[in-house]
Amino acid sequence: MKLPAHVKLVDVGPRDGLQNEKQPVPAAIKIELVHRLQEAGLKNIEVTSFVSPKWVPQMADNAEVMAGIQRQPGVCYSVLTPNLQGFEASLDSHPDEIVVFGAASEAFSQRNINCSIADSIERFRPVVEAARARGIHVRGAMSCTVGCPYEGEIAPERVEMLARLMKGIGVQHVGVADTIGVGTPLKVQRALEATLRHFDIDDISGHFHDTYGQALANTLASLEMGVWQFDTSVAGLGGCPYAKGATGNVASEDVVYLLHGLGIATGIDLDKLIDAGQFISDFLGRKSGSRAGTALLNMRAAL
Ligand code: HMG
Ligand code: MG
Repeated sequence: MKLPAHVKLVDVGPRDGLQNEKQPVPAAIKIELVHRLQEAGLKNIEVTSFVSPKWVPQMADNAEVMAGIQRQPGVCYSVLTPNLQGFEASLDSHPDEIVVFGAASEAFSQRNINCSIADSIERFRPVVEAARARGIHVRGAMSCTVGCPYEGEIAPERVEMLARLMKGIGVQHVGVADTIGVGTPLKVQRALEATLRHFDIDDISGHFHDTYGQALANTLASLEMGVWQFDTSVAGLGGCPYAKGATGNVASEDVVYLLHGLGIATGIDLDKLIDAGQFISDFLGRKSGSRAGTALLNMRAAL
């Protein structure tokens, strides 16, 4: 088993995690979370999204959060932009990377961004062009690459099609997302193989929600294929308002524990990451979704 020597993690907690919280999370808490993540050594943080506040009110403070971050050199701050309006609104915040987000499932595309897959690509096209003209890196998130809350199982051919369309409009990197966490290793590998028909291994990441407890297994299955970039979420926060029942992303702490155990470098200080997870879990008033974080906190308390 030849695994990558180094792995890059994008912590999507401030965005994917906090977009799904019922209770309001003040901008100051989001900013503090981002500060704690960068303090822990995260070099890639997905901060917020420039989407309609009617659709996702939790992200309405996008500009305030971006403006409040004390940026560290070498850290890439990403934001989601579903259309030109969102992209233009994001520009004052100077994102290092923008994320257009499509789906391999027609029904999910309609529910999440109110248009068909084909129309979404036409919406993304000018966003990608404008971002690249400004030197802003463009990532594409591909939702429902193994299963959809409305359509059930998704065939790899659908993923191949979406990857081809994303490539065709100049998206530089794609994230293969298991939005509802139903995937198991072989299914995830098939979705990755379909994506590899259009994107290089260095331009693909995994984004696994952990609803069925498969996300770490899916991460390992991806590592075995040479995938070395993953979206993870501190304290296992996350979910999508348009994918009911889906739980959070795989916890960053658990993935770091796995990777360090495999001798794979991440540049992340696990103790500080656990503190960041505890900070946001305390604010939300619930237990962290990270098993490794909880175990290590229990060890600390016992000392
Ligand atoms: P729409 O209603 O079709 O848009 O929404 P529209 O162009 O017809 O405009 C309607 C209204 O929305 C207008 O306002 C626009 O100004 C406004 P009004 O005149 O009615 O007052 N509007 C906007 N406002 C702010 N920012 C914008 C924007 N665009 C239009 N960018 C739209 C289409 C895409 C905007 C909407 O469907 C939307 O915001 N969807 C976002 C859904 C979302 O954020 N989902 C979660 C993120 S994706 C995810 O979590 C999955 C991921 O983690 C991977 C995985 O796990 O699968 C990435
Ligand atoms: Mg997600």
